[in-house]
Amino acid sequence: MAEFKEISPDAPVGAKLLNWVDNRFPASKLYNEHVGEYYAPKNFNFWYVFGSLALLILVIQIVTGIFLTMHYKPDAALAFGSVEYIMRDVPWGWLIRYMHSTGASAFFIVVYLHMFRGLMYGSYRKPRELIWIFGCAIFLALMAEAFMGYLLPWGQMSYWGAQVIVNLFAAIPFIGPDLALLIRGDFVVGDATLNRFFAFHVIAVPLVLLGLVVAHLIALHEVGSNNPDGVEIKAHKDAKGNPLDGIPFHPYYTVHDIFAVSVFLMIFTAVIFFAPEAGGYFLEYNNFIPADSLKTPLHIAPVWYFTPFYSMLRAITGEMMYALVACVAAAAAFTVLKGRLAAFLKAAIALVALLLVASMLVIDAKFWGVVVMGGAVIILFFLPWLDNSEVKSIRYRPDWHKYLYAVFVINFIVLGYLGIKPPSPINERVSQIGTLFYFGFFFLMPWWSRLGTFKPVPDRVTFAAH
Ligand code: HEM
Repeated sequence: MAEFKEISPDAPVGAKLLNWVDNRFPASKLYNEHVGEYYAPKNFNFWYVFGSLALLILVIQIVTGIFLTMHYKPDAALAFGSVEYIMRDVPWGWLIRYMHSTGASAFFIVVYLHMFRGLMYGSYRKPRELIWIFGCAIFLALMAEAFMGYLLPWGQMSYWGAQVIVNLFAAIPFIGPDLALLIRGDFVVGDATLNRFFAFHVIAVPLVLLGLVVAHLIALHEVGSNNPDGVEIKAHKDAKGNPLDGIPFHPYYTVHDIFAVSVFLMIFTAVIFFAPEAGGYFLEYNNFIPADSLKTPLHIAPVWYFTPFYSMLRAITGEMMYALVACVAAAAAFTVLKGRLAAFLKAAIALVALLLVASMLVIDAKFWGVVVMGGAVIILFFLPWLDNSEVKSIRYRPDWHKYLYAVFVINFIVLGYLGIKPPSPINERVSQIGTLFYFGFFFLMPWWSRLGTFKPVPDRVTFAAH
């Protein structure tokens, strides 16, 4: 137990109260460790505001979600009407609902930018692997949260989107049909599905999400932030043990973040007040029609933030399987012929590749589509071990690495765009090339990330006050 601290009887009431609390709960200690005396690199740029913005949106979603739950009815016969009731009759209900629906898209925009920052500055590399892994788990939880939340308004897109995605699980050999039944709780998406998705959306997944965010931040504060130079600021400390290139989080970054929050809120409110549907991207037009299990909409597309992954799912046709088989065979042949591995390892690799190719030829392409879609997210977890570059930050990498990252981003956006559009032969071909590029980028990273002429990394961070 920490020593009991006495305070002068003449001290102001506030100081006395704080001392009383500090003797029972580490309030000042926590504040100092995580804010007041938490040293962050002094060269943060605007890419470093998205973590705080993600936190803000998390709070907005939870608070607006609580108010929505007060008026929403998780019942297939009442759900659609209860959302309309919130929009028309509940005082300020429209604002709460639009904040929540716009917040969902804003969350993904901010998190995608936050992840891209990590990719650019090598923030996932030693010693920050766990920050990244917790981040990837957050991303997965966020996708589950958004998917289940989208069923709740019980519109046509809610219903058919859930139908399509849950049916994908049925493609898994042996256990698939039973698994899909277990998820739905019925033979089609119905009242039972709505009830369980509601339970997951309002309590189960948010709890996991909050726990993961806390773990993410604890890991971050344990090792300290990376920065745009990818230089470890803890390597140079002053006499007091504070990093020479660090500045206290408060007031420097609290002010930085408050500025970002103001800009964000201006954009956020502009969307809420003037374009809450965002042209059908944030709220799809078909979702203003109540769910009808007898009328399949002509074109079913998930919300924009899922579409890059949805495109990869649709890219896996029977024809594409031949290209994938060729990739697996080529990778295995290369490792066996060129790799410096023990003979038994080579034999094992050849055997696994043979089994994989056989199952790729036997099992339906739909199943492999699901594997590819899931794999596109799972592969992110391995990024810390895929990147072999000798420097962390993109600033000191060869220029062509920057172009490669730019192509990666464009490819991801193109995949997203194609996922919104109805299928066509040309869209299919482009999304197949895009899928191969996406996976090639990661699978070949151990090789290409080492190539090229790297620039010398400075000893200390570079920073010019502006
Ligand atoms: C609810 C979602 C999330 C919240 C609230 C959140 C919050 C934060 C905060 C406050 C920071 C410190 C400020 C900053 O560096 O921007 C941070 C850093 C970081 N986050 Fe997240 N994060 C979220 C999701 C993610 C995801 C999905 C990933 C990656 C898959 C990720 C990876 C990272 C990394 C690598 C850092 C350290 C960056 C550095 O030091 O350069 N985060 N996060």
